[in-house]
Amino acid sequence: MSEKKRYDRFTNGKLNEYVDWLDEDGRIINASDGGIIYVDGVYYWYGMVLRPLPVAFHGQGGQTTTVGVAMYSSRDLYNWKYEKVILRSSDDPDSELYAPMRFERPKIIYNEKTGKYVLWCHFVKNPGDHGTTPGTAEAGVAVCDTVCGDYEWLGHTRPIDDDGLVRDSTLYKDKDGTAYFIYDRDVNDNRCLHIVKLSEDYLSFTKEYRRIEAAYRREAASVLYHGGYYFMFTSGLTGWKTNPAKYFRAQGLMGEWVDMGDPCEGDVTGTTFESQSTCFLPVEGRQDCFILMAERHNTENFERCSYIWLPVEFPTPDTMRVAYRESWSMEEVWGSR
Ligand code: GAL
Repeated sequence: MSEKKRYDRFTNGKLNEYVDWLDEDGRIINASDGGIIYVDGVYYWYGMVLRPLPVAFHGQGGQTTTVGVAMYSSRDLYNWKYEKVILRSSDDPDSELYAPMRFERPKIIYNEKTGKYVLWCHFVKNPGDHGTTPGTAEAGVAVCDTVCGDYEWLGHTRPIDDDGLVRDSTLYKDKDGTAYFIYDRDVNDNRCLHIVKLSEDYLSFTKEYRRIEAAYRREAASVLYHGGYYFMFTSGLTGWKTNPAKYFRAQGLMGEWVDMGDPCEGDVTGTTFESQSTCFLPVEGRQDCFILMAERHNTENFERCSYIWLPVEFPTPDTMRVAYRESWSMEEVWGSR
């Protein structure tokens, strides 16, 4: 595990800056729009490996992968060790994972009943362009017996019905172990976030779902639970361009979600601090402490996107706020443990 302790803070940089986050071997952490799962004292950070294109090809399709989903590990969230590729794209033109393609916004949750780790993503087949035809706007699923093993691809599908294209997606596992797939459902450009209850083994969808009416034309969703409320952070639909964030609040995941406006304090440029949300990370051993993981997309060179991690604040029990910090540590913000 992380032996070489180089870092003791998160560095987001100035709003107009890209900062490389390096692993223990000094290589760029290449884990796009994924998430973090905590298992037995270790955080596992995973995400899609984007392509380090030569300079002449910058800006041309580096947002797809020819590798798959990679995993890193850490005990302190500051220092990361590269582990391995846990879900591979394929070199075989006959494979549905033929690269370049996308395992976009992968998320992993653990199923206590089956003892398996389940990964869902927004799957886009070769050549990795979002589309409307089968294979180009899907929910993809993979499974593994261990958190950092070789995930077995189980295929792709569309929740609710085939009319609804799958765009950005995320997972949320509730306190009672019930899990939900949340996605931007696109029916002839009528796009709205939907939340769908997963089956007990998390490998398929149930018929139970809700259209989150308030979250019309929103994406990049992530959910946390705090003080009796579920909070959902989202972005608008401007592709890789930044836009103002908006959050929603509910007392039940399948209940009424209310539009709470932009949680980004002092975001004068209306750009979510020049980033787009990725995921919420509950910090282990610190009650009520969450990190918003976001990314500053670098469309010139996707491998050099910047990670933007910020502490989440709750000014009152029923509101949430995020302020920008160029650099911070958990100890400074939340005290030593
Ligand atoms: C973003 C979305 C990303 C990706 C991109 C376009 O808005 O959040 O996940 O789909 O558009 O490729």
